[in-house]
Amino acid sequence: MAQKMLQKILIVGNGGREYSIGLRLKKDAQKNRSKDNENLTLFFAPGNAGTKHLGINVALSKNQDLVAFCQKEQIDFVIIGPEAPLVEGLSDELREQGFCVFGPSQKAAQLEGSKAFMKDFVSRHNIPTARYIQTSDKAKAIDFALSLPLPVVIKASGLCAGKGVIIAQTYDEVKQTICDMLSGESFGDSGKCVVIEEFLSGYELSVFGICDGKDFVLLPPCQDHKQLYNNDKGPNTGGMGAYAPTPLCDEALLQDIADLIFEPTLRGMAQEGNPFCGVLFAGIMVVQENNQKKPYLLEFNVRFGDPECEVLMPLLQTPLLEICKAVESQTIKQLPIQFAKEYCVGVVLASHNYPFGHSTPYPITIQSYDENLGEVVFGGVSEDKQGRLLASGGRVMLAVGYAKSLPQARENAYKILEAIEFEGRIYRDDIANKAL
Ligand code: AMP
Ligand code: GLY
Repeated sequence: MAQKMLQKILIVGNGGREYSIGLRLKKDAQKNRSKDNENLTLFFAPGNAGTKHLGINVALSKNQDLVAFCQKEQIDFVIIGPEAPLVEGLSDELREQGFCVFGPSQKAAQLEGSKAFMKDFVSRHNIPTARYIQTSDKAKAIDFALSLPLPVVIKASGLCAGKGVIIAQTYDEVKQTICDMLSGESFGDSGKCVVIEEFLSGYELSVFGICDGKDFVLLPPCQDHKQLYNNDKGPNTGGMGAYAPTPLCDEALLQDIADLIFEPTLRGMAQEGNPFCGVLFAGIMVVQENNQKKPYLLEFNVRFGDPECEVLMPLLQTPLLEICKAVESQTIKQLPIQFAKEYCVGVVLASHNYPFGHSTPYPITIQSYDENLGEVVFGGVSEDKQGRLLASGGRVMLAVGYAKSLPQARENAYKILEAIEFEGRIYRDDIANKAL
């Protein structure tokens, strides 16, 4: 009798992104589109109260504990969700022990871990990006900043959980921000080297490439909604909603993004001995120049974006595990990755004081909803002693709608959202409006 293949997958992380990756793998297995997915067991480290229903949560976060867990459980594949373990070298430690990993090496992860590394890399390879300097010298930073028109963009070089970018509106604010960052006051050591850059005016896109070190395949282009309130008002957040594919990126623009940004990046990283394997996120500003749209690179992330991942996973038709394996075996070009001819809209439900601090955990109720409209994704959720689901802070959940048209997908997302209740929930009601 042929033996069934047992697949044990470990997903590192605890947010909506990791939930949606797990849900994709489960759905692939149910559809039985991939033999590899038979007898799938998912582990999440540490996961959340939602991922518990997709697999087994393990309360581990240190690299050495994760490696030991993989050895003990004989894990077949590890998918690393967030940037911090990548920047700390988890992929390398796992690969050294012979594990298959979806996630770039520590050196390649510098594209996100150090804005200074990223800016120097892209300027060495003539990738379009805002004019900048990077320095730890206060006088140099201020001199360059004062030479730019207002507003001026000031970035802490190290990882700051998406908060290390200040757009200063006056030269007084410019000087104060530079002093606060370089003294370590605002972002600790992450701000002791700063990147000062010119402000680019246009609209933003999130474009993801699945990269195997030499080749890449772009996923449907997305748009995130970073500000807390409608019409892009209020403080920056990790993202309050996303949708894909966005009609604001046509074929020609996507091809330019491939040619001007992804191709030279993959080539340059390989040439410099740091081939990029995993998913590369390019934050793009589309600037109108001489009646043409030109993409400029704002930032790289070395992982799926959150909430972009949650709207990309439902569009994937090729089993996710096959994609991860093609990255590991450097055969991404041979894999015809297919996407549903649909649109997907995800609306974040956050706790009342997101993004400023922690909230009292409030119980969540979810009324039944039509599962043909979309799905619910769990992020900042926990459980009380009775097993009741609680909104434990931050970005709690996502209502994800899909449909053949963008307006319908949007409507479906908001219908699902209406089924979710918890005290103090906040959300934007204009997700995807820019495209309609
Ligand atoms: P980053 O982490 O570098 O992507 O920056 C966070 C956000 O700040 C971006 O999503 C943009 O909205 C904004 N931003 C960053 N750099 C620039 C720039 N040079 N011009 C205009 N906006 C920027
Ligand atoms: N949504 C952007 C990010 O994940 O950083």
